[in-house]
Amino acid sequence: MIEELRSIASLAEEEIQSTETLNALTSVKAKYLGKKGLITERIRSLRSLPPEKRPEYGRLLNQIKNRIEELLKEREGYLKEADLDRRLKAESFDVTLPGFCIPFGHLHPATRMLNEIIDIFVSLGFSVMEGPEVELDYYNFEALNIPKDHPARDMQDTFYISDDVVLRTHTSPVQVRVMEKHTPPLSVVAPGKVYRCDADISHIPMFHQIEGFMVDEHITMGDLRGVLEVFAHEVFGPQTAIRFRPSYFPFTEPSAEVDISCVLCNGSGCRVCKNSGWVEVLGAGMINPRVFEMAGYEPGRYTGFAFGMGVERITMLKYGISDIRLFLENDKRFLEQF
Ligand code: PHE
Repeated sequence: MIEELRSIASLAEEEIQSTETLNALTSVKAKYLGKKGLITERIRSLRSLPPEKRPEYGRLLNQIKNRIEELLKEREGYLKEADLDRRLKAESFDVTLPGFCIPFGHLHPATRMLNEIIDIFVSLGFSVMEGPEVELDYYNFEALNIPKDHPARDMQDTFYISDDVVLRTHTSPVQVRVMEKHTPPLSVVAPGKVYRCDADISHIPMFHQIEGFMVDEHITMGDLRGVLEVFAHEVFGPQTAIRFRPSYFPFTEPSAEVDISCVLCNGSGCRVCKNSGWVEVLGAGMINPRVFEMAGYEPGRYTGFAFGMGVERITMLKYGISDIRLFLENDKRFLEQF
């Protein structure tokens, strides 16, 4: 019997030492120490032994049980560690490998130009105000001294929503909306989208304008010129000259088209300026007293200037872009150049 016990003990030891997984170790444990385990059964049957044999056999049985428990514990520790090692190896990665480059987007060139222009005027003390894109005919035309059936309406191809509602064709209606709510002194820029039913190499049906106006008791055309000169120098460089040509807008009197010296040839004449040395950049003038009157200002008290420019046009001149439709095509080869 003693012999049998010893051989069970050495068999158990061998089995424990050769298990390779925690699962296998659990079965080995059950085989010897489980409810019906080889050791457990023998402990249970101690009672049936003759009393004089019990002490010696019992002691040995206990020793073997303790020894097996100890071995199981050791092996369990070893296997757990080996398991952790294996996982660390399998799950580790090389932090020195080069990563993937996630391509960055950026603002659209027209938006960037618009922001740049706004910044210039803000630095001159202008505030930024906005108006609706779906606009009343009243603000887009009538309050700007363009009555219904006035031939000047043909200057802008209008999207009509109804008889009284249009998609604004310019940012000038913001002049009136601001003047209705605020009294001078005013210096405001109004950026935003405008719409015209027109499409070719130099026209798209939706584009951006930025309106600027200044109203107070003694504003002159000289102030207009000074402000626009700063604008031209900031956007196109300090060598840029500006000139005013007489023009007509119903909401300004006198009115002017403003040109800058050609950014491409510096005034000597090229394809972009059609050999004139000048390119047109915006419309401007002194606000017509009729507009002040309709906004509710005391007649004769104030003077002011206003100007309006197309942001895409400025961007095209600055970067030498020849087709305005590129702004809407979402061609990455175009957009990535900015
Ligand atoms: N609103 C005019 C246009 O879109 C530009 C302009 C604005 C002219 C302000 C004079 C004064 O053509």
